[in-house]
Amino acid sequence: MHNKKIMVSGIQPSNNITLGNYLGAIKPFVDLQDKYKMFVFIADLHAITNEFNPIALSKNKRNIACLYSACGLDLKKAIVFNQSDICSHNDLSHILLCHTTIGELKRMTQFKSKALTKNSNNTSFIKTGLLTYPILMAADILLYDADIVIVGADQKQHLELARNLAIRMNNKYGKMFIAPQPFILKNASRIMDLANVKVKMSKSNKDQKGVIYLLDDKETITKKIMEAKTDSLNKIKYDKKNQPEISNLLEIYAALSARDVNSIVKKYENKNYKVFKEDLAKIVVEKLSVIQKKFKQISKDFDKKIEPILKKNAKYCTVIVQKKTKLVYKKIGLIK
Ligand code: AMP
Ligand code: TRP
Repeated sequence: MHNKKIMVSGIQPSNNITLGNYLGAIKPFVDLQDKYKMFVFIADLHAITNEFNPIALSKNKRNIACLYSACGLDLKKAIVFNQSDICSHNDLSHILLCHTTIGELKRMTQFKSKALTKNSNNTSFIKTGLLTYPILMAADILLYDADIVIVGADQKQHLELARNLAIRMNNKYGKMFIAPQPFILKNASRIMDLANVKVKMSKSNKDQKGVIYLLDDKETITKKIMEAKTDSLNKIKYDKKNQPEISNLLEIYAALSARDVNSIVKKYENKNYKVFKEDLAKIVVEKLSVIQKKFKQISKDFDKKIEPILKKNAKYCTVIVQKKTKLVYKKIGLIK
């Protein structure tokens, strides 16, 4: 028997993994892997709620599995699996769907930002999966009795829905779920796009020059950092309101060097942005080249080493979630 608390989280294989994904999610998975029992999955059923290409999807799935390991997640400890290998995610999702209002889903800021445009509130042509996606996410979490869910700040609202659904179902039918707590880092929970600090660094940003990918080469990383937008004050200060661009770079620097922002500000007191950016580029390149080296090695062994682990974990998870699904079916009267 284990006494550790349970952590559940996933990342969509909808493109390559960004530095934002790493700092907001993967790094805290790695840092906390000894403290929690971790279920970390490849959220492939979520990835198809956006436009997708089947060949790219399967390549991205492989890459994420390898990247989890290359970033330091110990596959002997963390239970890494493909979401679509476990049918119960969809089973529970349907039940939760029947307990969620359309209003709750339409209020989600991520839905609004993806589905609504400046000129139109018309959602008639938006795919339903984009609307219902937070329910599937709630199912992902509630199936495993997660105590905490490590996510970036953009997922906070989705986590609230998962909590609400857990409480709603427990109140209506008797205790069946744990209400999960979000675990969101103080810094680095929302790394912004280097070219446009108003939007988060994301796989889906149209303009890619401000998005650093974990598999970018040295030249590309350096170029993106050196060309990162900054203000004209040329003073290194952590002030998210008035100097959001340099503050964003400071958060990246701090997270990757395991230092606090203030000590970095002090170090660069009399230096200009160029010097700071050069140093930051070095730090990012160094960190990512270690990950990339491991990634290359692990990718070669995917079929022999990673795939069997994913399959074995799918079997393990299936047993856990079938038990949970059965309990839910019983509580709501679907089975005796
Ligand atoms: P996604 O790429 O949407 O599947 O996100 C996977 C995880 O990375 C989620 O926990 C997100 O909240 C987190 N994440 C995504 N983008 C960022 C970002 N720019 N800064 C911090 N965390 C992020
Ligand atoms: N929705 C998350 C994202 O886009 C990914 C995700 C899916 C997730 N299911 C989850 C994260 C369950 C945590 C727990 O970032």
